Amino acid sequence: MCSALLSPIFDMSDRRERIAGLDTAVAALRAGKLVGMPTETVYGLAADAADGQAIARIFAAKGRPRFNPLIVHLGGLADVEKIAAITPEARRLGEAFWPGPLTIVMAKHPDTTITELVTTGLDTIALRVPAHPVAGDLLRAFGGPIAAPSANRSGHVSATRASHVAVDLGEDVACILDAGPSQLGIESTIVGLAEGEAILLRPGGLARQAIEDVLGRKLRSPAEPSKVTAPGMLASHYAPKAALRLNATNVEPGEALIAFGPRLPAEAGSNVMVRNLSKSADLAEAASNLFSALRDLDRHATAIAVMPIPEDGLGEAINDRLERAAAPRPRR
Ligand code: TXA
Ligand code: MG
Repeated sequence: MCSALLSPIFDMSDRRERIAGLDTAVAALRAGKLVGMPTETVYGLAADAADGQAIARIFAAKGRPRFNPLIVHLGGLADVEKIAAITPEARRLGEAFWPGPLTIVMAKHPDTTITELVTTGLDTIALRVPAHPVAGDLLRAFGGPIAAPSANRSGHVSATRASHVAVDLGEDVACILDAGPSQLGIESTIVGLAEGEAILLRPGGLARQAIEDVLGRKLRSPAEPSKVTAPGMLASHYAPKAALRLNATNVEPGEALIAFGPRLPAEAGSNVMVRNLSKSADLAEAASNLFSALRDLDRHATAIAVMPIPEDGLGEAINDRLERAAAPRPRR
């Protein structure tokens, strides 16, 4: 184990370090911390997919000014059923290519334990079963789904070595499992299977042709103009129906309130529906509650006032999402 760096790096080719590494990583995931996890494509920045605050830490660590939905990693095809509605086509692809560098976007079960921040409020979820023995061991030992974007800071190239993870995210991970260079060095291919469509959302480690051969039909490109704006079609961002009023310091009649911090506007009494993103004004907690609060209030109100959220740290991503949700329709 190398202790000169900020977080321990375990050499997973060494039997003893492998056991210690897995133990440390599982304990870290259970404690809501982040782990550098090898996969066959690139290294992932792993967290418990059911823990909203752990997922908020991923976004904070990556320095993403925006929330993008994350890929959820599973131990096997059988684990999909608890999380998403698996169509016959998705099952065929899973049987043909999992474990492997293929991510499938499917319709998410509404009652899944996966936290809303992973899917950024979408009704769909991106799932994959990685083909790396260490990732497989970690998923088994942890015993639940693991969300993991590529383990690089936003704007940097993907990490294909443990040392890349250490340089970019060494201060943010509890440990790094070093399994040498990534075999593929390129991210998984992402296919969207929803509403009868089959779309190549991102080219990657698995060739388009191989997927088309199994499906028996061509994959559409997301850039095809008619598809980008088609209503209900794999919209890449959740948009509430209610009108949002940002930086609100009061509550108008008929409005619900998304609050932040301990001090609420005077009108926020018993007749106003309130969801407080974080009573203690903690931005990671606020991020983890953002999408469920929006969805919740959207079901009951046609207008939502949103209290000001500071721009620092995760506040930038929270405000980015709120601004886009508040923009006039049709949205960008
Ligand atoms: O190979 C990989 O896929 C690596 C390893 C670590 O598994 N992961 C990875 O994750 O590349 P990331 O976060 O860098 O890329 C995830 C991509 C994003 O472009 C995101 O927009 C897309 O997946 N995505 C996730 N959920 C989605 C959804 N519900 N609908 C459409 N796209 C989705
Ligand atoms: Mg990436």
